[in-house]
Amino acid sequence: MSQFLEVAIETAREAGAMLRHEFDRPKQISYKGEVDIVTESDRRSEALIIARLRKHFPDHAIIAEEGGGGGVGAKYCWHVDPLDGTTNFAHGYPCFAVSIGLAEDGQPVAGAVFNPVSEELFTAARGEGAYLNGKLIRVSAIEKLATSLVATGFPTHHRKRSANINYYWEYTLRSHGVRRDGSAALDLCSVACGRFDAFWEFGLKSWDTAAGVLLVQEAGGKVSDLSGGPYGLGGPQLLASNGRIHGEMQEVAAIAERPAENS
Ligand code: IPD
Ligand code: CA
Ligand code: CA
Repeated sequence: MSQFLEVAIETAREAGAMLRHEFDRPKQISYKGEVDIVTESDRRSEALIIARLRKHFPDHAIIAEEGGGGGVGAKYCWHVDPLDGTTNFAHGYPCFAVSIGLAEDGQPVAGAVFNPVSEELFTAARGEGAYLNGKLIRVSAIEKLATSLVATGFPTHHRKRSANINYYWEYTLRSHGVRRDGSAALDLCSVACGRFDAFWEFGLKSWDTAAGVLLVQEAGGKVSDLSGGPYGLGGPQLLASNGRIHGEMQEVAAIAERPAENS
């Protein structure tokens, strides 16, 4: 295993243990936006992760959600979500994770996502496969959207501008169902290990997706935007799937984009 992935794993576990401990205690919540919550745990987790990454890789850049990162123009850049699923965490819903991804010249090359409640650790390195607690994982073999379980999420900022409810509706009518679990990093991991057959969302940031996108790709899945074009880290829309239902997901996205014409 590369030193990059080793450090990502060790750090995700350490930050996750801290979050697990704090999950059972009263939370100190503040707001970044109308419903965009941040807790002291987000900040503590980020500080811990940044300290570890800086110690091991002083020349690497870090982009972290709560703003503690730094460095530009480096070949290697870490994309860190110290607590993905903050709203769940704050409400005591046990679905959240630490997500740490490394990109080389903008391409994800290593990633670790750790759910400290289920103690599930998802890991991947470019060209080396994707793993859940050390066991190789693959995307599902579902061939049809009609027999699939898919997932999405909704932004906490500019909520009224999001058209995603139209997509939610169209995919719900054509699948076994749509889940909305509140952690994009874990949603991507669920595609990688075959629990979900596809996941889409608008407006995700590079820290939400850097590790999860690599996991899906290394597990044999496909990642693009909703019309099948390339997805770049932090791009405005993301579609990740088992590959087999990707075409159908794109077709439905095209329908959802024009709700008035289809009503
Ligand atoms: C959020 C979660 C959620 C997604 C939001 C993200 P946060 O991240 O991943 O599932 O729907 O778009 O912002 O704020 O909990 O780190
Ligand atoms: Ca996030
Ligand atoms: Ca977060």
